[in-house]
Amino acid sequence: MDLQNIDLASVDHVLCTTRAVRKRLDLQRPVEREILERCIEIATQAPTGLYGETWHFVVVTDPEKRAAIAAMYKKTGDAFFSGTLSLDPYLARLHARSAKDPRFAQQQRMYASGRYLANHLHEVPVLVLPCIEGRVEAAGPGAQASLYGSIMPATWSLMLALRARGLGSVLITRHIEHCEREIAEILDIPDDVTQAALVPVAYFTGADFKPAKRLPVQKCTHWNRWG
Ligand SMILES: Cc1cc2nc3c(=O)[nH]c(=O)nc-3n(C[C@H](O)[C@H](O)[C@H](O)COP(=O)(O)O)c2cc1C
Repeated sequence: MDLQNIDLASVDHVLCTTRAVRKRLDLQRPVEREILERCIEIATQAPTGLYGETWHFVVVTDPEKRAAIAAMYKKTGDAFFSGTLSLDPYLARLHARSAKDPRFAQQQRMYASGRYLANHLHEVPVLVLPCIEGRVEAAGPGAQASLYGSIMPATWSLMLALRARGLGSVLITRHIEHCEREIAEILDIPDDVTQAALVPVAYFTGADFKPAKRLPVQKCTHWNRWG
């Protein structure tokens, strides 16, 4: 395919409308294995630090394993919403505290749909865990950037490829701090492998998705110097 044949409108549409899907996941419709395999194949076209290809995608369809993972996610969710979960200072800083913050209303909606998903996660037909070889808790910022930078682009590509085929997904990390090891035990994930996320996957219901309301792009774009 040459450049003239790339359908920019479709590419931009998929890039701008791949939303976090929680309430519109079709919990009844099965997801075909071939579609998941093709989307993972597309995901592995993403960049990979040092050509490492150290990514792994653990696809969970077994109902008992899904239920066990969902129960752990719900436990951390319940603790988060009841205020008993101590938040990492970095994460605490991301929370909008006042309605004057333009992100406040969006975060409130996000929490509401997050609660819904936590209550239904065991019913989602597929859970994908993007993982990467290595651990960087004690490493410097370069190793951390390289490790997460070698799995998150692939994870996003997976979500885009799924969305283009009518499947919704959402990138979840909230539980990792609290139950990564327990989930590793359920799935026999080795100790030296990092779970980057948990991605519930299902066909989405209803019509198309819209671009999200984001802060003006000028706020996050810097030319030649910060500010
Ligand atoms: C690093 C990261 C972690 C996230 N963790 C969670 C999570 O634990 N639970 C959840 O429901 N959504 C999670 N999300 C999804 C965000 O809530 C979502 O992307 C955000 O609300 C914006 O919505 P949009 O993606 O539809 O634009 C996460 C997203 C990112 C990028």
